[in-house]
Amino acid sequence: MKPLQYGLVGVVLGLGGVALLSYTGARHEASTTAPGTATSGTISGASVKIGGPFELVDHTGRVVHESDFRGKFLLVYFGYTFCPDVCPTELQDISMALDILGPRASIVQPLFITIDPERDTPEIMADYVSHFHPSLLGLTGTPEQIDTAARAYRVYYARDAETLEAQDNYLMTHSSIIFLISKKGEYLTHFGVASGPEEIAAKVGPYL
Ligand code: NI
Repeated sequence: MKPLQYGLVGVVLGLGGVALLSYTGARHEASTTAPGTATSGTISGASVKIGGPFELVDHTGRVVHESDFRGKFLLVYFGYTFCPDVCPTELQDISMALDILGPRASIVQPLFITIDPERDTPEIMADYVSHFHPSLLGLTGTPEQIDTAARAYRVYYARDAETLEAQDNYLMTHSSIIFLISKKGEYLTHFGVASGPEEIAAKVGPYL
């Protein structure tokens, strides 16, 4: 393994993210306690569906639907390219997990769905995903399309209150969860920020 094969962590921090790091880390909600967020199959004993239909635009400009991915397992992560720390780390973990899985990962489609569609155009997404696993697909869309996708996955996101006046340099608060979805489009499990690539690979592998 080449641990630094993927990722923008160093690059992004080098661009001035260090000052932001101390508090942005706390703005990634990795647990089931995030406001408006459910990451498990149940809330208070009631069954909650995770995942569902969406229509988005991939980083090549192609319109894609959730149903297009039937027959592949999905690793779905919501974040944004301007994120200074956790998002690139999570995408690096996904990339390295796919490397660990080797040829078996050919039936796994990793998806990076932006929760910041106003800045994350297909062009921006294309450049960003190129730093990670070659199979990683970046998805964006209209704010309404992103909202539909995020709601389907019970993902919370909002502009960070402390950077609301930062104009183009605002940050986003968002759930930081990697979802594993079955070939039939059904939620299987999820991973939080504490899960490294080895754990992700070990838990995804038996499903493949
Ligand atoms: Ni992030």
